[in-house]
Amino acid sequence: MSKEQLENVEVFTSSFSSEQQKELANRLITFLSQYSHLSDSFIIEFFSENLWDTLPKTWQAVLQDLSFPQIADLLLDAANNNRRYPSVWPLSLLAFRATAHALTFPREPRCDRGSVAEPKKPEEFLENHSQSSLLGHIFRKHVKPKKQHEIRKLGMLVKQLCEQTGCRRVVDVGSGQGHLTRFLSFGLRLSVTAIEADPTLVAMASRFDGELLWVLEKEKHKKKLRPEALPIPRHVAGWVNPKESWEVFIQQLKSPDHVGDDPVTLCNKKICSDVAHPSRLCGGQSQDLHQNDAEEDPSAGSLNHSAHEEGVSPDESHLQRSNDFVLTGLHACGDLSATLLRLFVSCPHVRGITSVACCYMKITTKESPTPPGLVTAPDLLPSGHESFGYPMSSWVRGLPGHQLSYKAREGACHALEDYVRRLREESELLRSHCYRAMLETFIRDTRPDLHRAGIQTIKKSHLLSFTEYARLGLARVGLPPDLPLDPERVAAMLKHQNKVVVYFSLSLLLAPVVETLVLLDRIIYLQENDVESRLVPLFNPNFSPRNFVLVALKPSR
Ligand SMILES: C[S@@+](CC[C@H](N)C(=O)[O-])C[C@H]1O[C@@H](n2cnc3c(N)ncnc32)[C@H](O)[C@@H]1O
Repeated sequence: MSKEQLENVEVFTSSFSSEQQKELANRLITFLSQYSHLSDSFIIEFFSENLWDTLPKTWQAVLQDLSFPQIADLLLDAANNNRRYPSVWPLSLLAFRATAHALTFPREPRCDRGSVAEPKKPEEFLENHSQSSLLGHIFRKHVKPKKQHEIRKLGMLVKQLCEQTGCRRVVDVGSGQGHLTRFLSFGLRLSVTAIEADPTLVAMASRFDGELLWVLEKEKHKKKLRPEALPIPRHVAGWVNPKESWEVFIQQLKSPDHVGDDPVTLCNKKICSDVAHPSRLCGGQSQDLHQNDAEEDPSAGSLNHSAHEEGVSPDESHLQRSNDFVLTGLHACGDLSATLLRLFVSCPHVRGITSVACCYMKITTKESPTPPGLVTAPDLLPSGHESFGYPMSSWVRGLPGHQLSYKAREGACHALEDYVRRLREESELLRSHCYRAMLETFIRDTRPDLHRAGIQTIKKSHLLSFTEYARLGLARVGLPPDLPLDPERVAAMLKHQNKVVVYFSLSLLLAPVVETLVLLDRIIYLQENDVESRLVPLFNPNFSPRNFVLVALKPSR
């Protein structure tokens, strides 16, 4: 890892002894248990469950008149050293905020750490908002700016981990449309097998590979360049089963059902030599790394890459015999991140791992073994604590009160920086929680059984009056859109919009604390299995809220 990354990481874990990690888990759980009524609450129930009245009276008094920018400055912005209070705050509220900030892993790399008052866009997007200046155009096609930022940064880290572990092979699990896979293969010339549960996404990934190869082929003709062999990614459609052994996982990767040959037929397994000089494909900071790549032969073995072996030098054949690889998962949702960590621990061939998690609410727990959104066959559900997504470590499992509700974990997926920005801008979008909470009271009056009914986001709701919003919302839950809405009651609730925002901000303060506990549990799990890991805030959190990468490697054999 680079010096910069090492420095960032030291703050988190490498400077923590195993005892300190355990002590931190203890403190997190004690703190979260005390405020679970906040993290477990649903903002849509603000009026129907009188959530404001669940706050201490002393808190209510000082919070109720805060402006939106004051909420950002005084509550959420951990880096603000110049707080100006309009009134004297009770110690319990100051302690709540200070503890939440102190227990949370810092979300910015140390060099960027500052007030969220001035959110910085990654430099790579300063010239063009939608195109990273550091990523070659062929890797930007079909890829949103956020993902461009992620694949470039994670790709470089994976490449570095490969260098440290001596692996040329990477397995990208939950690869989606294959954006990271493509950059790792064609940009960084690693031998990649991608596995993804959704066959539609696998087909798209393969098609996008083909498009990329087609572009390179055209450029090759134009520039009259010599064709050159290239490691073409291999895509496997398959669901990685958390209950299966690592041997089954390896067999799955070798599955003959892969769809990786399509791009090869498009481009006849040969490719323009731009790929041998990726500095032409990628600019800026990435060039140094890429210049090293240009010295290497692009061909490398993979778990079953017989179709791509022409052009492989004899020197490399020993690499192909080796089955070692680095495991990666970019926003491997729900249990998938936990599954990857278990595979890393159990499988001797996995030498390193980079794990970026997301969708913590889809994680299975003993209390919630089938969370909403979990797509799997019932007989494949986890049956024992050894395969639940949380907690993973024996230590955390043994701490009373370690449980994290579905709601607390869902809250941990919120984009705190984005909300702070809205507060500072006094954005009208902040009205949406109040509208939804008001609507909930009318829905429950008519049909109590429809409480917490799912209403898809109503577009541009901040531009609508509440009545217009309610008409659309009522129709979504099957109630008459012209249901009478008492105007006095509507007006009375609208007056409390600030309180809704304050209450939501208090619960949002706990979101990074919950995320810290989930990730710390994984770090302790690795520690219990004799593996040291590091947590890197790799992505810009203003851009990519789930920005932590858990990195680990095994000692060389
Ligand atoms: C949030 S998406 C991320 C996709 C991609 N890595 C990216 O960053 O664009 C997570 C992906 O993991 C896949 N997935 C979830 N559980 C899986 C499993 N057990 N085995 C294989 N794929 C899985 C989902 O289908 C989904 O495409």
